[in-house]
Parts: sequence; structure tokens; C-alpha cells
Amino acid sequence: MRIVQLGEGDEIPYELLFSADPSKAMINRYLEKGTCFMAVEATKVIGTFILLKSSENTAEIMNIAVSADFQNQGIGKRLIEHAKLQAKQWGCRHIEIGTGNSSIGQLALYQKCGFRITGVDHDFFIRNYDEPIIENGIACRDMIR
Ligand code: ACO
Repeated sequence: MRIVQLGEGDEIPYELLFSADPSKAMINRYLEKGTCFMAVEATKVIGTFILLKSSENTAEIMNIAVSADFQNQGIGKRLIEHAKLQAKQWGCRHIEIGTGNSSIGQLALYQKCGFRITGVDHDFFIRNYDEPIIENGIACRDMIR
């Protein structure tokens, strides 16, 4: 598997990006501001993330996804390690990620990758999404930062 930056003319991996965020408007906003990377196996895109340099010292992983057939094989962790390296190359000393209060597996993964909880953006998903999001039987309302 190799991790490459989305080039001009490359097909945007929307299907994967939608698995991390149901809003095309939000995804397009992230793509405009950030840099999209893809995990490629042979010629197939099996993972992706969008990294944004949000300030002088900080980068944020805006969206990360691995194809269902390839999940739980360590690819998500490898993508996060790649994001950390890229952020360092950009001169960032901090890296951030945010996910829903209902995203139990994602919260586990990010903490296994060393992220610490710094705050909660209350009602982020109520303010920014038209449709209710339910995961693991839990209403997704708050963004855990
Ligand atoms: N409890 C404890 N640990 C868990 C749980 C859980 N419920 N669910 C997952 N994990 C752990 C696994 O045990 C594993 O850790 P381990 O290696 O120590 O065993 C780890 O999380 C999964 O690691 P990977 O295999 O590297 O992750 P994967 O390749 O499956 O990718 C991802 C993870 C990207 C979240 C994938 O599941 C996915 O694409 N999901 C759908 C899209 C999505 O929700 N994206 C994130 C949205 S938030 C955002 O983008 C900022």
C-alpha cells in the first residue's frame, strides 16, 4: 500500500469521504482548504484523509476513511501516522481531530493513536447537519475535539 497526495485531475474519492461525513458541502469545504491523501493498493483507492493546516502551528485531520473491506487491518492507524509526519513537514507542532460523540470506534482509534480530549463543541452536528445522525444507537450531537 502506498499513500499519495490527490493530484490535479485525479478522481476525488467521494464515496470513501462520504463514509466519514454525509455532507457533500462540508467535504467540498474541506477539499478546498485542505490537502487530500489517498491510500492506494495496486490501482484501488482503499483509504483517504484530508489534512488542513489550520494555523501556523496546527494541522487538523478533517476526514479519514478506509474502505469497509480493508478496515481493522491497521490502515487507519497508518493514515494517521502519515498525517502526523505531513503535519511535521509543514512545520506544525500540534495535530487535531474531531469526531461525533456517537463514534465509539473512532474515539477508541484516535486515543490509541495518542490523541487526548481537549474539548467538546456542543451541538456541532445539530447546527451543521440537516439530517439527524444516529450511530451505535446514539444521537450524534456534539463534536469531541
Ligand atoms: N472499541 C475499542 N477499540 C476499537 C473499537 C471499539 N469499539 N472500534 C475500533 N477500535 C480499534 C481497533 O481495535 C483498532 O485498534 P487496535 O489496532 O489496537 O486493535 C483500531 O480501532 C482500528 O484501527 P485501524 O485498523 O487502523 O482502523 P481502520 O483501518 O479500520 O480505519 C476508520 C478506522 C478510518 C475510522 C474506519 O473504521 C472507517 O473508515 N470508518 C468509517 C468512516 C469514519 O467514521 N471516519 C471517521 C470520521 S471522523 C473524522 O473523519 C475526523
